[in-house]
Amino acid sequence: MRKTLPFTNEFLLELTEQYPTPFYLYDEAAIRRNARRFITAFDGFPAFQEYFAVKAAPNPHLLKIFKEEGCGVDCSSLAELLLAERVGFSGHDIFMSSNDTPAVEFEKAKEMGAIINLDDISHIDFVEKTVGLPEMISCRYNPGPLRTGNSIIGNPIEAKYGFTRDQIYEGYKILKDKGIRRFGIHTMVASNELNPDYFLETARMMFDLVYKLKVIVGVDIEVINLGGGLGIPYIPEDKPINYEELANDVMAIYQEKILDRGLFPSKIAFESGRLMTGPYGYLVTKVLHKKETYKDYIGLDACMANLMRPALYNAYHHITVIGKENDRLDHKYDIVGSLCENNDKFAIDRYMPKLDIGDILVFHDVGAHGHCMGFNYNGKLRSAELLWHGDRDCEMIRRAETMDDYFATLNF
Ligand code: LLP
Repeated sequence: MRKTLPFTNEFLLELTEQYPTPFYLYDEAAIRRNARRFITAFDGFPAFQEYFAVKAAPNPHLLKIFKEEGCGVDCSSLAELLLAERVGFSGHDIFMSSNDTPAVEFEKAKEMGAIINLDDISHIDFVEKTVGLPEMISCRYNPGPLRTGNSIIGNPIEAKYGFTRDQIYEGYKILKDKGIRRFGIHTMVASNELNPDYFLETARMMFDLVYKLKVIVGVDIEVINLGGGLGIPYIPEDKPINYEELANDVMAIYQEKILDRGLFPSKIAFESGRLMTGPYGYLVTKVLHKKETYKDYIGLDACMANLMRPALYNAYHHITVIGKENDRLDHKYDIVGSLCENNDKFAIDRYMPKLDIGDILVFHDVGAHGHCMGFNYNGKLRSAELLWHGDRDCEMIRRAETMDDYFATLNF
């Protein structure tokens, strides 16, 4: 099976003449369609919110789209809070899910009125002493041995995130004793998970915990944030999550475990990144070199600094070769970048059509955790980001870095 592109080849080739490759290209209409469908699926809940995980695609033009579609934002750092502020997010439309957090980040989150999600029981004291406790607090729950995680986020018992089961009760009790009256709760135990049962299990776990927190500690939880981690079909044969089915199934659990127990009708939230932008971003690159040694290599003008998921997670990203979409996949290549790192490989032993120097290769599903994970090793510069509004209307929403940018921080 092959993936297709929403753009015509003619349009894409025109873009490569206008903007030097590599560059990222996002499909605005598809981002909006997906956001609407996701939010609408959860219409049946008393309240629902998607806090877009800014870390996945931290560009204010994209954040603006999510604001217009009614999303909040999940921020994990000062820079992400500042981006959200620029776009006009404030108050409880911001969920601050960070870890190992410096005081200055708590301070900014508090100033913006964000829901602060504490990663550790010791942070209650830390926040109180450094910036003072905010009006509403959430705690991140790590179920430890009660759940299994997956490869990106790790086994919960090995993961650095969150309060343990004992700490979570103690944490809410301490917060209640300190006079906090408004609470959220959060968990995130998987990343890029396509099996909806995983999220149903998380919902069951969290709704039962909310019940116990009411019975044991006497607190009402206003927002239950089920985290990010909803997967996307990177591999063409993968089955995407069916939002409507997921929402209906979570609703049934919510009815039984929250509403039927007479608990506060909490808002249900996700803080998805990948699900919101992943499939709608593309990395457009060009073949620079072909090399035949012990293996056949294709050298691109992009490298791991432009997309590090394959090197970091051995992640699969589908590749379309412009003009060779229907050619036989009868050549086996390692598709590599220019870093002095042997793991700077986008694909290993990938069957492709016969590739030639100058071919345009488009990487799929890089709209989340793509551009933003870039770095400057070997003096490589981060690429531009373009936003496709439809038809022939495309806007550069971030220029490519220049050598002046690279030298800007040097005191020499
Ligand atoms: N919320 C928190 C607290 C997170 O740590 C993350 C991801 C998200 C939300 C968004 O997760 P998503 O829905 O996008 O899976 N760089 C990796 C993913 C990092 C996962 C950890 N944080 C990747 O390229 O797959």
